[in-house]
Amino acid sequence: MRVLILTMTMNFDSNYWEERYKNNQTGWDAGSVTIPIKHYIDNLTNKKLKILVPGAGNGYEFEYLLQQGFNNSYVIDIALTPLQNIKARLPEVPGTHIIHGDFFDHVGEYDLIIEQTFFCALNPELRQQYVEKMYSLLKPGGRLAGLLFSFPLTEQGPPFGGSAEEYEAIFSSLFTINKMEEAYNSIKPRAGKELFFIFEKK
Ligand SMILES: C[S@@+](CC[C@H](N)C(=O)[O-])C[C@H]1O[C@@H](n2cnc3c(N)ncnc32)[C@H](O)[C@@H]1O
Repeated sequence: MRVLILTMTMNFDSNYWEERYKNNQTGWDAGSVTIPIKHYIDNLTNKKLKILVPGAGNGYEFEYLLQQGFNNSYVIDIALTPLQNIKARLPEVPGTHIIHGDFFDHVGEYDLIIEQTFFCALNPELRQQYVEKMYSLLKPGGRLAGLLFSFPLTEQGPPFGGSAEEYEAIFSSLFTINKMEEAYNSIKPRAGKELFFIFEKK
C-alpha cells in the first residue's frame, strides 16, 4: 500500500530523468534503433511525413529516420542530457528539430508519432492525458505507431505495464486500432513483452 501511494504521488519530472541520465541508470536505452521500429520505418514511403519521436532519449530512432531521408523529423524530451548527446552525434541537424520540453506542453501537427518506452515511463495517472495529447498533435488521419509493453501494470515502475485490453479501452474512442499484436521481432530483453501497434486518428 505504501509503495502504491509513493508511485502515484511520485513526480517523474525533468530532474528525475536528468538524474537517471547523469547516473547512467538508463536500462531502457537499446543503443540503436530497435528492430520493430526499424522495420516499420523501412516500410514508410512518403519521405515528406512530419514525424515526432516524443520522450526520445538518445534518439536512435530519430537518427535512423534522418539516415533514411525523413528530414521532417523531430524529437522532444524533458531531459537535456540525451538531447545534447543527439546534437553531438548529429551536429548537422537544425536545432529546431531537437526540442527540449515537456511533451504535454508541446504544440504542433504531425503525420506520424513514434512511441517507444515513453508511454510506459509516465505516471499511469497521465494515460488519458497522453491519449488526448497524441490526438491533438496528429493531423486528421495521422498515425501513432510503435511499441507498448504487455506485462501487468503494478505499482512498480517506470516502466509501467499494461495490456492490449487496457490500451484498446483508452485509445479506441479517439483512434482506430489498425494493428496491435505481439511484436515478432522484439529486441531480446523485450521478447514476448511488447505489442507492436498502429493507431490512426479518427
Ligand atoms: C524510458 S526513457 C525512453 C527513451 C527512449 N524512448 C528510448 O527508447 O531510449 C523515457 C524518456 O521520456 C522522457 N520524458 C519523460 N517524461 C517526459 C515528458 N513529460 N515530456 C518529454 N519527455 C519526457 C525522459 O526524459 C526519457 O528520456
